[in-house]
Amino acid sequence: MNQTNKGGPTLPVVLGIETSCDETAVALVRDGYSIESSLVSSQVDLHALFGGVVPELASRAHLEILPALIDDALDRASLNISPRQLQCVAVTQGPGLIGALLVGVSYAKALSLAWEVPFVVVNHLEAHLYASFLAGEPMEFPMIVLLVSGGHTMLIHMKDHLNYTLLGQTHDDAAGEAFDKVARFLGLGYPGGPIIDRISTEGNLGLVTFPRPMINEGLDFSFSGLKTAVIRWAQNNPEASEKDIAACFQEACVDVLVRKTERAAKMIGVDRVCLAGGVGANSLLRKRLGELCQENGWEVFLPPIALCTDNAAMVAACGHWKFNRVGPSPLDSPAVASLGFPAS
Ligand code: KG4
Ligand code: ZN
Repeated sequence: MNQTNKGGPTLPVVLGIETSCDETAVALVRDGYSIESSLVSSQVDLHALFGGVVPELASRAHLEILPALIDDALDRASLNISPRQLQCVAVTQGPGLIGALLVGVSYAKALSLAWEVPFVVVNHLEAHLYASFLAGEPMEFPMIVLLVSGGHTMLIHMKDHLNYTLLGQTHDDAAGEAFDKVARFLGLGYPGGPIIDRISTEGNLGLVTFPRPMINEGLDFSFSGLKTAVIRWAQNNPEASEKDIAACFQEACVDVLVRKTERAAKMIGVDRVCLAGGVGANSLLRKRLGELCQENGWEVFLPPIALCTDNAAMVAACGHWKFNRVGPSPLDSPAVASLGFPAS
């Protein structure tokens, strides 16, 4: 540990800030894996009235909640941490809504200057990969990561910390987007993924078999055709129950995700599989991925459910590795709405 003149030794604790979409989140993570505190203030109720995220409302809500959330996260940490002892402040740089990102990035820069601690920007997609590192299990490389969120669906070969090859991604809708759009069409509410997950447990899988787009081709995905097929079928069969339609849609979607993950692991010859992103909370996907790995004798890493969707603990964990391996980011680093996945 470095001795500093800042009122105590620097601790290996990173403050993470996440404001890329509709969750304001702050967390303190020690050594890259141990959560001191993790708080998420959801704006779901605010945006539910509009059936989706309203960017301007999201930015304002982030700004209102962030100062109190940071104080609260510091107060709740089990270690007595003075902000000046932090290893660094890590913040999501992108991708996401530009106004929402700017709130977090600007705030993190101000804290870094005021507390005289380093500043680190983190890619939100990369941060999702770090959720499993917070589950308490030691993780080893290489591994295949299935990243499934509201905006992205990717298969990644993670060879080491911060070292990735992108193996495949969606040509159109992300898996979470398909869940949300099908749920919206069925009038189930927003966000649709958790609702479809819940009602599908009572659904009849014998109702209809929906297409499994590109299931036998390569490692890319396409969910737009599946979404359209479900919506058309529901329009033509108005008497069908929502839970049956939801269950058949979820089955098709999970089937594609699991088969492609299996193909990626076999192609690369990797025997570790990791799940990441909001759709990673889906109970059927977790079960099927677990079964796939058991059948093949592979290790499976499933992030804690609460850390699948957007949170700041994953940002802090990723920030820890970025700071240790790459160093601090320049204070003029911008927020980047369309930031891509940092693969080689
Ligand atoms: O990773 P995330 O919180 O935000 C993005 O970075 O996009 O993912 C949000 C997505 C939404 O589409 C939501 O419907 C989906 O994750 N989701 C789920 C479940 N929980 C969240 N999808 C299926 N089943 C779930 N249990
Ligand atoms: Zn996310």
